[in-house]
Order: sequence, then structure tokens, then C-alpha cells
Amino acid sequence: MAARITERIEQMQYVPGERLPGVRKLSRQFGVSVGTVIQAQHLLEDQGRIEARPRAGYFVRARAPLPAAPEPSRPSTRPTLVSGQAMALRLVQATHQPGVVSFGAAVPAEGFLPVQAERAALRRVVSRYAERATAYAFPPGVMELRVQIARRMADAGCTVDPDEVIITSGCQEALTLALRAVAVPGDVIAIESPTFYGLLQVIESLGLKALEIPTHPDHGISLEALQVVLERWPVKACVLVPNYSNPLGYCMPLARKHALLALLAGHDVPLIEDDIWGDLGFGHERPPAVLAGDRDGRVLYCSSFSKTLSPGLRVGWIVPGRYREPVSYYKYVSNLATATLPQWVVAELLAQGGYDRHLRRVRGEYAAHVARLSDAVAESFPPGTRLTRPQGGCVLWVELPQAVDSLVLYERAQARQISIAPGPMFSATGKYRPFIRLNAALPWGRPVEQAVVVLGDLAHQLAEGD
Ligand SMILES: Cc1ncc(COP(=O)(O)O)c(C=O)c1O
Repeated sequence: MAARITERIEQMQYVPGERLPGVRKLSRQFGVSVGTVIQAQHLLEDQGRIEARPRAGYFVRARAPLPAAPEPSRPSTRPTLVSGQAMALRLVQATHQPGVVSFGAAVPAEGFLPVQAERAALRRVVSRYAERATAYAFPPGVMELRVQIARRMADAGCTVDPDEVIITSGCQEALTLALRAVAVPGDVIAIESPTFYGLLQVIESLGLKALEIPTHPDHGISLEALQVVLERWPVKACVLVPNYSNPLGYCMPLARKHALLALLAGHDVPLIEDDIWGDLGFGHERPPAVLAGDRDGRVLYCSSFSKTLSPGLRVGWIVPGRYREPVSYYKYVSNLATATLPQWVVAELLAQGGYDRHLRRVRGEYAAHVARLSDAVAESFPPGTRLTRPQGGCVLWVELPQAVDSLVLYERAQARQISIAPGPMFSATGKYRPFIRLNAALPWGRPVEQAVVVLGDLAHQLAEGD
């Protein structure tokens, strides 16, 4: 309910300063109980989206206009070996250091995860299935989990048989297996730019070459540029995050998803689709996966529960289309199997219900946290800063004035106990020096607010040449 009101505010159906309809009217309009409306109002008030005025009701809070979004990226479209990803490990290690405000890694704080339900599921699994949970779950993995995953994939428009699902240790392993199945060292892989650095690490570790495609912050890669690239280079696969990409947060419109598939089919190139953020959009419709339109097994679909349940469970999956055999084989030879116990925990959690309710709650919270962080950045950062308008997920991609070197900002912020992800990590060629990515899925409060102000001050100093 809070997410739906937030959506209306974002779309200016309720404008700043306007009074929200009364509780009864909202309850009728949205078809929910009065209690739900009241809860949603409290949540929105906590999130700073609306404010109560005595005896007058709730009003949409006025906010300063946000700075413009970054321009579409223009990377050089030549294949290149990836280097310089070693700092990623330092970045993720900072996530768990006490006292550090962790804007760096895109890891949701505990409050965004259903930890109580997970603990309860863990206890039940240990008491009921202890024996089964101690055996290997060789590929494709625990059947009960694959059944639940296949069911859930219907929400993304995909008709999938449980036998088509292979369980992996997170989405990162799914991406690795997919790339191993379609390419050998030296092959060229087309990717969006900027892209999730974990993908660059996989490309680097497999000795592949990345070819960065210009990408629009609102709707994703340029299909025109992809076409030119496909005609010019022997591209072996294209890897994209079409639903709420990391770091741009765009959702590729359906027509472009269809056009992408047609283009790839024309050149007989597989698509590795990373849909890890697909359930975390700010609207109330779950966008379809590109896989939903695939009729010839061209898409290798990868995802995980790291952003919705817990990253530490390390449960992900791949639906590899026509590459099932090599993917199962590489899964087996890499590590025999994904740990059995977490697979049962996730199967149990999904079977018991409540997961959709959890998703509805966190979607609203992610939207509100991204909005708050955007406002705070807009207030504290130097003139000339630009910000994305994510349509889902929990990260913000921030372009700073050209004089700001994000690697220096990273060091200075680190010294002040603040972790950020510097732009060059998101490029195979070290681009995006004046950019940073910020994680909004942190408990909002004084330390986070102050950290944004400190970051703003540091960025001001660098922008002025200090
Ligand atoms: C787009 C994308 N893919 C994959 C991953 C890695 O997922 P996992 O932790 O399930 O391996 C992440 C994590 O941030 C991500 O943002």
C-alpha cells in the first residue's frame, strides 16, 4: 500500500503540498482495510514522504527538485581484457566492519530481509529433514526447491519445468557457469556499461574479453549500438540485467526486450539474463523476464535469493535453455553441489507462504530509501552532480563534477568510516572516474544522514581541486 502511494507521488498524481485523500477514501480506492491505510500512512511518514498536519490529515511533503540524470554512457566499443577488479574484495569486506557506513556494496541491511521467518524455517528444516539435509544435493539440486522456483518464475512470465532449473551457489556462480558454457578464453562478451562489477570479475577470471555497449540510464543498452557490434565482432554472448540493472536501476521496456531477442536471434548469439533484482521493482507489476519471450532456448536465465532473502544462504539458480548439459557438468566439476541445508531452508520458506507479503513490504521500503538517499545527495553534493532515477533495486548511480576522482573520494571516505563503490569498478576499461554507486538499503538515521553530508563535503573539496 505504501509503495502504491509512493508510486502515485513519484508520478505526480499526488503533488507536493497536496492533501492525501482521507483514510476511508483511500481504503475504498485501493481495496484494502482502514488498518492497512493507517499503517501505510505511518510508514510513509517515517520515510519522510508525507507529513501529518494537526486536524487536517496527511500532506505530500515538498521536496527540492532532483538534479538531472546522467547522460547515456559512451564507452569505446572494442573488446578488451578486464583488469583492476582486485579492489572489489576490499569493498565487500568493509560491509561488515563495525562502525562503517556501508554505501559501497549492494547488500541489503538486515532490516530488509525476513530474518525471523528464515530462522524459523531453519529450525523446522533441522528438526524435520536433518537426514536429507546432510546428503549431497547433486545438480540440478533439491527438487522441492526447484518446484518452488519454477512456480515463482510464472510471475516473471516464464513457463519453466522444475527439471529445467539448476540450483547454484548464488547468482554469481550462475553467471560463471553460463559464461563457461558459451565461451572459451579470448572470446568476446557484450555487456552493458556501466555494469555490475561481479560480472567483470567473472569475465576477468575466465580470460574473456568484455565489449561495453552504450547504455541509457532509463531503458538500457542501445540496440542500435549492439547491432553494429554484432556485425563487426565475433560476440559469443551478451550479458544484461534488464530488470533494475545494477548500478543504473533502469527497467528495459517490454518492446525493447522483444527487439533484443530478435536481434540476438538474427546473429545466433545467446543472452545471459541476470534477473536478481527483478522482484524488487518500485511499481506493483513484476516486469517479465526476457526469457518469457524466448522460444529457442537462447536465454540462460540467472538469479538468486541474495537480495530478497539472504545473501549468506548462497542459493541461486540458472535456467540454461539449450545449454543445460554443459551448465550441469560445469556445476558438478566446480564444486559437486550447492550446500543442501540452505536449499531446504529456502524451499521451506517459499512453501510456507508469506514471501510475496515480504516482497511487497520491502519494495515500498526500497523505493522510500532510494528516494531519501536521492534527496540527501541532492542537498549535500556539489553543483553539477547528477543522479539516476532507479525504477527498482537499492542503488543510486551518482555522477560528480568532472574534477572529482572517485578513487580519491573512496580513500578519503574510507578514512572517515564510509564505504562507497567508485565508478571505475563498473567498467572493463576504468571509465567512470567521476562516478560513485551508493547503496540505499541501510537503516535510515543519524549516522547515515551524517555520512551523506560528509561525502558531500569531501566531494565539494575534490570538485574545488583540494
Ligand atoms: C546484478 C547482480 N548479479 C549478481 C549478483 C551476485 O549475486 P549472489 O550474491 O547471489 O551471488 C549481484 C550482487 O550484488 C548483482 O547485483
